[in-house]
Amino acid sequence: MVVVAMALSFLTGCSKKDEVKPQEAITFSSYNDTKVGVCIYQISDNFMSLFNEELVSYLTSKGFSKNNIIVYDGANSETVQLEQVEKLIDQGVDALIVNPVNTSIVKTITDKATAADIPLVYINREPSGDEEQRWEANGLKVTYVGCDARQSGIYQGEILVDLGLDKLDKNGDGIIQYYMIEGAPENVDAECRTIYSISTIKNAGIRVECLLDDVGNWERDTAATVVEKALTNGLVPEVIICNNDAMALGAIDVLKKLRIVPGQDVYVIGVDALPDALSAIQDGTMAGTVFNDYIMQSHRTADVVMSYLQGETNEHYVGCDYAKVTSANVKVIEARLKNGGK
Ligand code: GAL
Repeated sequence: MVVVAMALSFLTGCSKKDEVKPQEAITFSSYNDTKVGVCIYQISDNFMSLFNEELVSYLTSKGFSKNNIIVYDGANSETVQLEQVEKLIDQGVDALIVNPVNTSIVKTITDKATAADIPLVYINREPSGDEEQRWEANGLKVTYVGCDARQSGIYQGEILVDLGLDKLDKNGDGIIQYYMIEGAPENVDAECRTIYSISTIKNAGIRVECLLDDVGNWERDTAATVVEKALTNGLVPEVIICNNDAMALGAIDVLKKLRIVPGQDVYVIGVDALPDALSAIQDGTMAGTVFNDYIMQSHRTADVVMSYLQGETNEHYVGCDYAKVTSANVKVIEARLKNGGK
């Protein structure tokens, strides 16, 4: 269950210390006047923009006023995001939702929010285990909602393994030559997807050879530039594994431009299930993706926020599952997305 309600909701983590008096929890009968601050690491990120739209729409469906949901774009800058968090606290928000620019600033953000007694939910970029243990040990009103990035890497690997060596191994040397296009340095999703996609293929007994491992910053155009450079340098891949769909779509753009047929000469795979990626799977240019369920994640995020606002206690880690998407089930996933995730 996402939310663990607790009868003694007025007791904070400080309650172990005798000198601290228990505080009455403020409960919210209607959310119309409740202010929520949302900090997104970079709004131009395709996936985070879908996530944010769904989050705002779900919160409004629960009675929050759109005017009281303040969304800030961190512009991928730690300094900018820290200033935004401070500004939101000064503006008197009742809850904070933060997609950190970098997990290294999470401790500072946590300290600022908890000093102001504002419940905080981190999304998409999982803070370190040590940080999560600190929330637990101190009974902080802080939760992470997201997926386990290792699962997405494993699913990418499994989709490729299911396609089979015969299909993937275009040059017939018994080895899969591949490009790895990574999201961003020091990003847990990027690290896990990179490691686990490849280890899954190797564990299935398929040999691999990395021709290129480069960073595409989660962006279509950056990935296209990186892939084009490698292709024009004569590195011939059989598979292009991308840490997300935006970059996979960038790789496909370049393949088409260079008259290499995606889905025939080279297999491209991503993560997220962006609408364009679902179309690419249907037209055969993309081998598959892994659905990063922003509907479930954003709804669970809002549910945890509301639970904190009601003075309840929550788990510090709320997980969500990824799902594999291939030509076999792409229509089902697409219909589910069009139907608000149901
Ligand atoms: C990932 C997502 C990427 C990008 C990244 C930002 O979970 O798959 O597309 O949004 O988060 O950290």
